[in-house]
Amino acid sequence: MLLKREDSLLNDIFSKIDHEQELSKEDLVCLIALENAADLTRLYNLADRVRQKYVGDEVHLRGLIEFSNYCRKNCDYCGIRRGNRKIERYRMPIEEILDTVYEAAELGYRTVVLQSGEDMRYTADNLAELVRRIKRETDVAVTLSIGERSREEYERLYEAGADRFLLRFETSNRELYHRLHPDSDYDERMKILVWLREIGYQVGSGVMIGLPGQTIEDLALDILKFKELDLDMVGVGPYICHEETPLAGHANGTVEMTYKVIALTRIVTRYAHIPATTALATLRPDDGREEALQLGANVVMPNVTPVKYRALYELYPSKVCIREKATQCRGCIGGRILSLGRPISQGYGHSLYKKLNALGTAKFLKEDKK
Ligand code: 5AD
Ligand code: SF4
Ligand code: FES
Repeated sequence: MLLKREDSLLNDIFSKIDHEQELSKEDLVCLIALENAADLTRLYNLADRVRQKYVGDEVHLRGLIEFSNYCRKNCDYCGIRRGNRKIERYRMPIEEILDTVYEAAELGYRTVVLQSGEDMRYTADNLAELVRRIKRETDVAVTLSIGERSREEYERLYEAGADRFLLRFETSNRELYHRLHPDSDYDERMKILVWLREIGYQVGSGVMIGLPGQTIEDLALDILKFKELDLDMVGVGPYICHEETPLAGHANGTVEMTYKVIALTRIVTRYAHIPATTALATLRPDDGREEALQLGANVVMPNVTPVKYRALYELYPSKVCIREKATQCRGCIGGRILSLGRPISQGYGHSLYKKLNALGTAKFLKEDKK
């Protein structure tokens, strides 16, 4: 009897998704708790359909350049936190970053993501000059992922031509956020996400799945937060334990939980760009990214960092691709996407939300190719 009632509750929630009705926190908790294979398949199929309808079949590639592993912060989970004395630090000179961007452009990437720890040795002026040169000398969209700065610095970088900014809020549980981030403030983080949007950036954020102490309720609220922030991009990857951090010994997040959150993020946000993350590939190298692309994701971010630095950008251990060159990763990812029968986008892959305000979907999809 009880089972019947649960069944009908679940059917009601699936029917809500079918009819494109909003999901409540309770609905999301119920879906995140699913474990039965048939229910999960149903969820993933619905997410794949939403993906198909709202963002189409194209997969967007972003070339990731990890240009410095210096960081002023000490986030409890992160392998490049300043307190980790055991890793060798590196900083790519501006010219070398630019050369790497050229290489990415030659490999066909229409977006480069410049990512680093919070390394203040690169001033906003240094980075603005780099962005200006990239925009002048190549034809790629620029995403920055450099952590927290002042509003004025974000403005200068936007004026220099940066298109997008990635800054994960990591968890929407304020208490957990503060436990994991000895030198960050939850409200400050959220305020920055609002600034970035006000300035004009396409804004990406996201969370880790399976952080020590994180609950299913937290994940449900994370997903609602993605919607509330109206994010253009949402990165969701499993937490992977690094032994040289205060969280040594904790369990990793799971692949299954990551899939569920990706699927629900797609269902709830509809238009957001969602990457199949490297952290997911690290836990499931054979087919993690392919599966993610079939249950909501539509972006992959292959590494283009020069090989000599790759192993040093160790946010978490056993990261994939630390020995491969940019050309190999491009080939590997291209093959994986084509094996799914999905086309690789030739456009910049700008935000679909922003464009939709001004244009119909079909018209936008054409514009993006220019
Ligand atoms: N496991 C998984 N992801 C991590 N990140 C940092 N450390 C880890 C880890 N141990 C993620 C954070 C950060 C992004 C750049 O990498 O979410 O925002
Ligand atoms: Fe620095 Fe980012 Fe790692 Fe935190 S997560 S220590 S800010 S690189
Ligand atoms: Fe780097 Fe597959 S993406 S080797």
